[in-house]
Amino acid sequence: MQLKFDEQVIQLHDKSFEVFIREEEISKELVSLAERINADFAGKEITFVAILNGAFMFASDLIKMITVPCEISFVKVSSYNGTSSKGRVDELIGLNIDIKDKHVIILEDIVDTGITIDKIMTLMGSEDPASIHVCSCLFKPSAFKGKNKPEYFGFAIPDSFVVGYGLDYNEKGRNLREIYQLKED
Ligand code: IMP
Ligand code: MG
Repeated sequence: MQLKFDEQVIQLHDKSFEVFIREEEISKELVSLAERINADFAGKEITFVAILNGAFMFASDLIKMITVPCEISFVKVSSYNGTSSKGRVDELIGLNIDIKDKHVIILEDIVDTGITIDKIMTLMGSEDPASIHVCSCLFKPSAFKGKNKPEYFGFAIPDSFVVGYGLDYNEKGRNLREIYQLKED
């Protein structure tokens, strides 16, 4: 079967998207991210915690270039109605390793408003890790209003909607190997 990659414009549900960041640029940027992390954590061990679903592709590509000893766990953040009068409660599902006294790097697909990362930092911070850092593939500085700016990120992008490389539009587009931007018409 002939696989057709590299479409310039693609359609997902009711919207069109155009190529924004090419596969080669992503790979190049990941090399420098990994080099920085390898240098900063030399002599230490890293516990990566990747946030599902969006970070699966970024995490798998990045971790292949990590040369310091490391482990990885994948978690989901969910919000449910607590039984108390407190309203919605956030929880991390799937964190099956003890992060106490570990050097944790959270892997995210994108930091947009920063609300999700703030929740995760609060939840994980209570487990007493030695340190926690945030590493995201993409970062939207103009949309950001959180407390935890990613210390490591691949690309700072404008405040537009993107898909591909793990990111979705209503669950579609995660499989794309390049990052696409919403096409305004
Ligand atoms: P935040 O809490 O606003 O920082 O949003 C974080 C989450 O929203 C990310 O983990 C993504 O799942 C999703 N998200 C934010 N911006 C985009 C985008 O441009 N495309 C796809 N998903 C996005
Ligand atoms: Mg996400």
